[in-house]
Amino acid sequence: MSRHYKSADLRGKTVLITGASSGFGEAIAWRCAELGGKLILLARRKERLEILQSEITAEYPDVEINLVVMDVRNTEEVQSLPSSLPPAFREVDILINNAGLALGTDPVQSNSIEDIKTMLDTNVLAVAVFTKVFTPGMVAKNSGHIVNIGSTAGHESYAGGSMYCASKHALRAFTNAARDDLVGTDIRVTLISPGAAETEFSIVRFKGDVDKAANVYKGFAAMNAADVADQIVFAITRPPHVQINDIIVTSVHQSGARTIARPLQNKTIIMQSASSAAASGLRNLALRSQCWGGSKNTWAVRGSSGRRILKGKQISAILVKQCYAARWTVVLGRHKC
Ligand SMILES: NC(=O)c1ccc[n+]([C@@H]2O[C@H](COP(=O)([O-])OP(=O)(O)OC[C@H]3O[C@@H](n4cnc5c(N)ncnc54)[C@H](OP(=O)(O)O)[C@@H]3O)[C@@H](O)[C@H]2O)c1
Repeated sequence: MSRHYKSADLRGKTVLITGASSGFGEAIAWRCAELGGKLILLARRKERLEILQSEITAEYPDVEINLVVMDVRNTEEVQSLPSSLPPAFREVDILINNAGLALGTDPVQSNSIEDIKTMLDTNVLAVAVFTKVFTPGMVAKNSGHIVNIGSTAGHESYAGGSMYCASKHALRAFTNAARDDLVGTDIRVTLISPGAAETEFSIVRFKGDVDKAANVYKGFAAMNAADVADQIVFAITRPPHVQINDIIVTSVHQSGARTIARPLQNKTIIMQSASSAAASGLRNLALRSQCWGGSKNTWAVRGSSGRRILKGKQISAILVKQCYAARWTVVLGRHKC
């Protein structure tokens, strides 16, 4: 909380989050609970929502939560949602259209028709229906905020992502047009366009193949769900007269939908510590940590004397973070960081 700038207060505001059972949606739920919002958490996996509800309630007993187990593609159910919500939750102040997915990385000539439909229905059609259903309440009281979760894939296209990119481009167009429609009201419309963030997104995309999914995030410091939720919280806590149009947010190692540098692959990594005791701690950490950056790295740990203590083939994210925290010198190839 700044003494020089007043952000908006979420206390008592009703926040509807679609896709709250994992990833960004779950992280947003935690942040909104922390800020005193009243939550409607929606997804298909009931048990995941129930666990989340009980965890949030344990930490924030005053937060009111309503669970909705629903497939966002079910247009009829979405249309009757406002009347089926308990009266205390019917006036939605902030609608976060987050549920979405990518399926497969096939080229256009072998795209699955089923997957195409699922992506369009979830990422575009459902957002339009939720917006249609909840915007009249916002118009009636001349206040509200619609936040759509886009992607860098809505700004750029890439091979293997034809339908996902098309759906996020469509979502960006829809969001911009919604902002045009509502200009002159006090209703805000925001797009958040994240780059790669480690959630269940790639596991879903690769249909349960966790190794393929893990490869997406190897070799660079990808964002996580909390990093993206933080952008959403920023947008919804601006003072009411400020409207964030779009936040494009990526890892420092990503510059767009097509470009990710993987600086920790194929590098020789030398870590030098201030003391040999610290170096031996580093060595133990190295041994305990999981591989990050693929097995193609070679790395070495040096004590203060420069004596090489350990040499190996793997480097881990945890290890690098701990190195920074302990102010160990980390040298990646010829780059010192
Ligand atoms: N992670 C990334 O790198 C990334 C980057 C840019 C944009 N995005 C976008 O961010 C959003 C959230 O993704 P995430 O990374 O958090 O992925 P995630 O961990 O897979 O979460 C997706 C959420 O959407 C829900 N969902 C999917 N289909 C649904 C349906 N038909 N009905 C109801 N809920 C549905 C899932 O819940 P259930 O399965 O329980 O229904 C889940 O809660 C998506 O729109 C995605 O396109 C992700």
